[in-house]
Amino acid sequence: MLAYAEIHARSRHDPEGFWGEAAKAIDWIRPWDKVLDPSAKPAARWFVGGELNTCWNAIDRHVAAGNGGRVAVIYDSPVTGTVAKFTYAEMQGKIAAFAGLLAAKGVAKGDRVIVYMPMVPEALVAMLACARLGAIHSVVFGGFAANELAVRIDDCKPKAIVSASCGIEGAKTVAYKPLLDGAIAIARHKPDFCVILQRPQLACDLVAGRDIDWTQGVATARPADCVPVKATDPLYVLYTSGTTGQPKGVVRDNGGHAVALAYSMRTIYDTKPGEVFWAASDVGWVVGHSYICYAPLLAGCTTVLYEGKPVGTPDAGGFWRVIAEHGVATFFTAPTAFRAIRKEDPDGKLIAKYDLSKFRALFLAGERCDPATLDWATEKLKRPVVDHWWQTETGWPIAANALGIPTGTGAIFPIKPGSPTKPVPGWDVQVLGADGHPVPAGDIGAIVCRLPLPPGTFPTLWNAEQRYVDAYLAEYPGYYKTGDAGYIDADGYVYVMTRVDDVINVAGHRLSTGQMEEILASHRDVAECAVVGVADELKGQVPLGFVVLKSGVNRPDAEIVAEIVALVREKIGPVAFFKQAVIVKRLPKTRSGKILRGTMQKIADGQAYKPPATIDDPAILDEIRESLVPAGYAKAPA
Ligand code: COA
Ligand code: AMP
Repeated sequence: MLAYAEIHARSRHDPEGFWGEAAKAIDWIRPWDKVLDPSAKPAARWFVGGELNTCWNAIDRHVAAGNGGRVAVIYDSPVTGTVAKFTYAEMQGKIAAFAGLLAAKGVAKGDRVIVYMPMVPEALVAMLACARLGAIHSVVFGGFAANELAVRIDDCKPKAIVSASCGIEGAKTVAYKPLLDGAIAIARHKPDFCVILQRPQLACDLVAGRDIDWTQGVATARPADCVPVKATDPLYVLYTSGTTGQPKGVVRDNGGHAVALAYSMRTIYDTKPGEVFWAASDVGWVVGHSYICYAPLLAGCTTVLYEGKPVGTPDAGGFWRVIAEHGVATFFTAPTAFRAIRKEDPDGKLIAKYDLSKFRALFLAGERCDPATLDWATEKLKRPVVDHWWQTETGWPIAANALGIPTGTGAIFPIKPGSPTKPVPGWDVQVLGADGHPVPAGDIGAIVCRLPLPPGTFPTLWNAEQRYVDAYLAEYPGYYKTGDAGYIDADGYVYVMTRVDDVINVAGHRLSTGQMEEILASHRDVAECAVVGVADELKGQVPLGFVVLKSGVNRPDAEIVAEIVALVREKIGPVAFFKQAVIVKRLPKTRSGKILRGTMQKIADGQAYKPPATIDDPAILDEIRESLVPAGYAKAPA
């Protein structure tokens, strides 16, 4: 049997042979003409000429193979006291009916449909119904405010929006409908219609002539069949933070996506058909797209949709309860969730209450996994804890300790805390220095991936091909720029240390400080501002604003800060977690006018810093520290 080194080498030297074989795991309506077209612009395309349907592959084919009675989705909602199970055959019926409703209202191949929903089974039904019709879904995370939803409506111009009356966030009920109505009012583009799921916890009014009640709509819908689409046709657009207020619409195609995700289930997650796979994330994030919805279903597994939190629903044993109750084999979440659990149950006492005998491995991603969290999880769970690294853009992991690939030495590669281990087959990861050349092992630089990217990654940005080239391909010709910096050690282990741009990672959620700065700057009293991500024990990072007021503004600082905090919440949403800003006299800058955000972050975190040689006036740094102390920042490390 081949081991990792040979498998990885083959994936790069013979990508067509490698991925052509992997593609046998998928049902094709028409075989591809070419596995890989490296000359396609702006990026190489996979399975060109092939036709398939992603919903067929995720749902219908399992029913056709006689597995219709297998549980496809377990909905576990501690916030509503519900556990419901849906077989593959039941999901097929629900998806076909909902697709029929969309189709009857005119949604067809290539049309966009926004899905703005909480963690309910209907969110998966809506996504898969779009896939069934060849319509392109764009799921918007529920923690975004009306304004963010409006930006996405205007960018992808949906024919329909699917939403719900409310979401339930721990003890809070969040009304979704006013956010949806607000977004449609702000947006220039108006959808033809909306489908609204009325939840018993909080019903909403429907807009006559525009809104359709989900239950009534599907009751009379004629089930729709799977529509053949090209492998290269978009399956979805998922917006992610960029460096400006305009989010990037990451496009995922059908063919490469299905092949890569099915491959990842076997090789990275080592999870077999019929086993239970649980990603405790949200359908609004890429983890939710890939590993709550598509991958487990493509692989014929049971997926868990959890409407709850790691703590507080009802306690820090919620995850262990779900794993035990549903026999979860493979579990995936973000390190921040473990930090939350550890804070409440430091000795892991609640773990012992549950039978975790079917649970084989924990996967962590979404942010850098701090060694303390990894050590705690390993010690308490006594199972492999796999830190793996990926991005919205890539759709599946770039680096991991792939549990289904023989290492050639031991069962898995030795775990090195702080490293997501080695590049996954398909990925050629390099670290480049400022001159654009690879740096020696152990040296920090920009982490890039040699082109072509493997299947399942993003071939372009929605409506923004030039931005795709500029943001990802232009700086290092021949490579994809990940936006992360780090190093590769002498054993080939990748270490992802920090972002090179203004993206920060708050509780595993990706946010742009540049976007927050745009909002702060729009406040009438603000002359200048900066936002940095400061260290937070639970969330990894949280945003902190620095604000210089216009001259003549003479109102209490606290009043202005409260307004700024409210403004960010109104414009981006609660997910931004922008809770604090300090008013400063001036911002530290280089002589050429560049704001020294990195130095400000170090000061706030109480880290040692050296004033850059190019600084305009070093005295400003002391002023900044003095402004931060009353707000509880800039403390020397304990
Ligand atoms: N709809 C509406 N509001 C939402 C929301 C949603 N889907 N998700 C989060 N929010 C709100 C929260 O209620 C909170 O609002 P508040 O400021 O009024 O309290 C705010 O957004 C921040 O949410 P969050 O960052 O999730 O903080 P939290 O304190 O509620 O929970 C954790 C902290 C660590 C428990 C939580 O972030 C978590 O479970 N993270 C897992 C990470 C994850 O799923 N990552 C995805 C990639 S794997
Ligand atoms: P997102 O697109 O929201 O999935 O965020 C992707 C970013 O999260 C990456 O570019 C990294 O900065 C960070 N990230 C995700 N997983 C890891 C990991 N395992 N280790 C370090 N950083 C990670």
